[in-house]
Amino acid sequence: MHIAVLNGPNLNLLGEREPELYGRTTLVELSWRQTNHEGELVDAIQGLKGRADGAVINAAAFTHTSLALRDALLAVRVPFVEVHLSNIFAREPERRRSVLADVAVGVVTGFGGESYRLGLEGLVGYLASRHGC
Ligand code: DQA
Repeated sequence: MHIAVLNGPNLNLLGEREPELYGRTTLVELSWRQTNHEGELVDAIQGLKGRADGAVINAAAFTHTSLALRDALLAVRVPFVEVHLSNIFAREPERRRSVLADVAVGVVTGFGGESYRLGLEGLVGYLASRHGC
């Protein structure tokens, strides 16, 4: 399923534009990416610097092994929420360990597709409180 949300003129000013009429909530811009390749994920994480305020990341099997992803996340210092469809703590021992979790804002695991929505909500709330909105 591909859903595009398009917005017209002056909606980039939401939050500051006539807040009594339009409220104080700003637009949230989302981009999605999927790759099977660890190096491409590293490049994608490096590319977040200066471009994204935060990230929701399901690193799949790389969650359990990839120091390269961990290093990239530490380097760019973009706040992220780790998400998983399955409950990784209810699975095989090697999946119960994440090399990313301790540097994440938080982890959502085991809610199927809902994990992404919950992670996104948590991240937006975290960023809003950090920026004082
Ligand atoms: C996963 C859990 C990982 O252990 C697994 O390798 C995946 C998916 C999840 O979303 O539950 O590919 O990240």
